[in-house]
Amino acid sequence: MICVRFIGTDGTVREVAAQPGDRLLDVAQADGQPLEGTCEGQMACSTCHVIVEANDFARLKPAREEEEDMLDLAVGATRNSRLACQIWLDETLDGLTVRIPAETRNMQGR
Ligand code: FES
Repeated sequence: MICVRFIGTDGTVREVAAQPGDRLLDVAQADGQPLEGTCEGQMACSTCHVIVEANDFARLKPAREEEEDMLDLAVGATRNSRLACQIWLDETLDGLTVRIPAETRNMQGR
């Protein structure tokens, strides 16, 4: 079992159990975190944007170019930003901590 931590928009920290192969976006949504994930992992919306804790960022596989392009458009993106729909969990990511940004914008429009 893998433990991930979400730091909510109000600073509340939640520890959540996940299984290898789970997608971070699905784990966050199951926990009620406000990540819309509008495009369901097509890298077309950036509403699944999360900010990874600096110490954990290096543990993630590097972002693909499409993900980087989408992050360029995400509101409030930082050097440690990732798309939660592109992060699949495994044992090496136990203890992963990500922050839910205060503001997201749906790049698909309304
Ligand atoms: Fe749309 Fe991740 S769910 S980019």
